[in-house]
Amino acid sequence: MNILAIESSCDETSAAVISNGKICSNVVATQLIHQQYGGVVPELASRAHQQHVLPVVERALSDAKVTKKDLHAIAFTRGPGLLGALLVGTSFAKAMALGLNIPLIDVHHMQAHVLAHFIEDPKPCFPFLCLTVSGGHTQIVKVRDYLDMEIIGQTMDDAVGEAFDKTAKLLDLPYPGGPLIDKYAQQGNPLAFEFPPVEMPGLDYSFSGIKTSFMYFLQKKTRENPNFVQENLPDICASIQHTLVRILLKKLKRAAKETGIREIAIAGGVSANSGLRKSLTELGEEMGWNVYIPRFEYCTDNAAMIAIAAHYKYLQNDFTDQKVSPLARMEF
Ligand code: KG4
Ligand code: ZN
Repeated sequence: MNILAIESSCDETSAAVISNGKICSNVVATQLIHQQYGGVVPELASRAHQQHVLPVVERALSDAKVTKKDLHAIAFTRGPGLLGALLVGTSFAKAMALGLNIPLIDVHHMQAHVLAHFIEDPKPCFPFLCLTVSGGHTQIVKVRDYLDMEIIGQTMDDAVGEAFDKTAKLLDLPYPGGPLIDKYAQQGNPLAFEFPPVEMPGLDYSFSGIKTSFMYFLQKKTRENPNFVQENLPDICASIQHTLVRILLKKLKRAAKETGIREIAIAGGVSANSGLRKSLTELGEEMGWNVYIPRFEYCTDNAAMIAIAAHYKYLQNDFTDQKVSPLARMEF
């Protein structure tokens, strides 16, 4: 059984082929055009997807050594994401499925981030908790089965990836700033500066306040010393990263306690963060959890995760049809 999967929800055009549950190719074309604007420009993302989708799909097929005739289904990211960007992948997948007369599988982008854990060993056992952290989402997901998930906690405002990117922007770092904060943080002292975390009830998060308090902090410090950022960049990055990671793990710990679940996973772009990976590993040892952290290439957006999600949907005969349209917001 060969499935071609296409991901186009944000600024990565990606295609992958999965054969009987095994990933055979995963091609990702990152759009560099957005760097000069300090964030993703939706219209430019749609155009870049249009330019990339055909060569990326052709490469994914040739890497996997399959032809179009060998395919049994076409999968695509239906949402959530940028509507114009999603429309490119959705239209391409629909046209290809129609042309080849094979079934079409729609995939939820955030569920796919969670299911990236089933691409390779070690795989979590059900039920497990997955902290799903990306540029648009921050969720604690209770995963009962491959396609049975429930959000038990989430951000009420900004996503943690946004908090990384916005604080990086205040430091004049280029987009996306998350990986750069991570890089500088590795040489800094995480306890150099303190930022008060915003307390939220239950298992929910809030990250919009951090950006504002960070902005006031920078304004005050640069008034005192105009070279403050240049002289303290590693310590600033380490301190902000430490604060964000501490907020993330505090609620995850609470969720594990409330549910009694000890299988703990992380997913999404921010799960590539070395501070989060290290702190979660240490916390897991302390709490006696089994911790699952995806390989870097399966953390940020990729079509392999769409392909593995499609594999499980195929096994359950869960198909869509030619009437399907993308959804910028999409329920679980
Ligand atoms: O999952 P993803 O690739 O795209 C979305 O679905 O949003 O996540 C992108 C987010 C961006 O905010 C980016 O800055 C963040 O993931 N990110 C990181 C790191 N790598 C990517 N944040 C912190 N540290 C990293 N190493
Ligand atoms: Zn994502």
